[in-house]
Amino acid sequence: MRNTDEPLALLETDDEWIRSRTGIEARRWVGPGESTGDLAVRAGQRALRSAGVAKVDLVVVSTTTPDHHSPATAPWVAAQLGLGTVPAFDIAAACSGFVYAVAAGDAWIRAGAAETVLLIGAETLSTITDMADRGTAVVFADGAGAVVLRRGTADEAGAVLAAQLGSDGTQKDLAVIAAGGARWPDTRLAAGHGARCLRMQGPQMFAHAVRRMTEVSRSSLAAVGWEAEDVEAFVGHQANQRILDKVADLVGVRPSARLGNIREVGNTSSASIPLVMDDVVRQKSVGAGARALLTAFGGGAVWGAVAMTWPDIPPVS
Ligand code: UT7
Repeated sequence: MRNTDEPLALLETDDEWIRSRTGIEARRWVGPGESTGDLAVRAGQRALRSAGVAKVDLVVVSTTTPDHHSPATAPWVAAQLGLGTVPAFDIAAACSGFVYAVAAGDAWIRAGAAETVLLIGAETLSTITDMADRGTAVVFADGAGAVVLRRGTADEAGAVLAAQLGSDGTQKDLAVIAAGGARWPDTRLAAGHGARCLRMQGPQMFAHAVRRMTEVSRSSLAAVGWEAEDVEAFVGHQANQRILDKVADLVGVRPSARLGNIREVGNTSSASIPLVMDDVVRQKSVGAGARALLTAFGGGAVWGAVAMTWPDIPPVS
């Protein structure tokens, strides 16, 4: 991974603007030749080691930046992890991808289709960022994080108690990579064309993110019968510190329960929630069984929240 200063040297921006408008102070991008799949494999290895698991029944990779349009990234990742011919698929739910992945993994387990599931959020947003667009070039970053979900009981640490998801396709232009898909195939574009990059309507996205994450957080709390002040660990998608503060204020989450690392890693889309979880596990800052609320909003538009208890997992190097 490399730091992000050099390619941004010519952009009309400054550290103070970025820090005060987003909360970001540092980010990482992959080096040449490194892909989303590579990051996913590294995160997956650590999650499997931490869980003490050598075999799973399903691998899900949530990503906006798959290694290829087709095939999905997950089968390759599963093979690299030595997981054999396990079912494996990608989830494309932009910055809500990890919350969607948790909901999908939980549903597979509840349906009896799996006992143990590996969920990975992995992104190389640097590969879809226009370095001349200051609305996106100063926020997006690369990274990956992973968790292992296994069948258990509701009173065990790490239990997923409620997962709520939503979407509004009428807002698809809030954050879009216009070209490269079937509506505007790559083959009709000159190399390096800007339509291959992610374009975001920042302020509009901000407003929708606050509204949807607040709504879905409230309804998820209601679903499990918790009050906002009961929440001991609140992990929102790390898009912008001002969004996170607003959502936590509106929902009524205690300041001491608000967890995040946007300052150190920027916006890593579907990797952002598992990256925060990894930090918390390393710092041992949340006890096993604590009441936790995860929430995210992303392009699509898509959003979701998960109410769960904090897992009991040892940190690994
Ligand atoms: O991950 C998926 C979910 N993501 C989100 O929800 C992201 C939501 N949006 C945001 O986080 C923010 O909208 C941004 C960080 C993208 C932009 O921040 P903002 O406070 O909404 O800025 P803005 O676009 O309203 O622009 C305010 C001013 C403008 O200047 P004028 O017109 O007031 O003179 C911009 O031209 O700031 C200017 N500006 C910048 N200045 C320095 C915009 N970007 C930059 C920049 N550096 N990088």
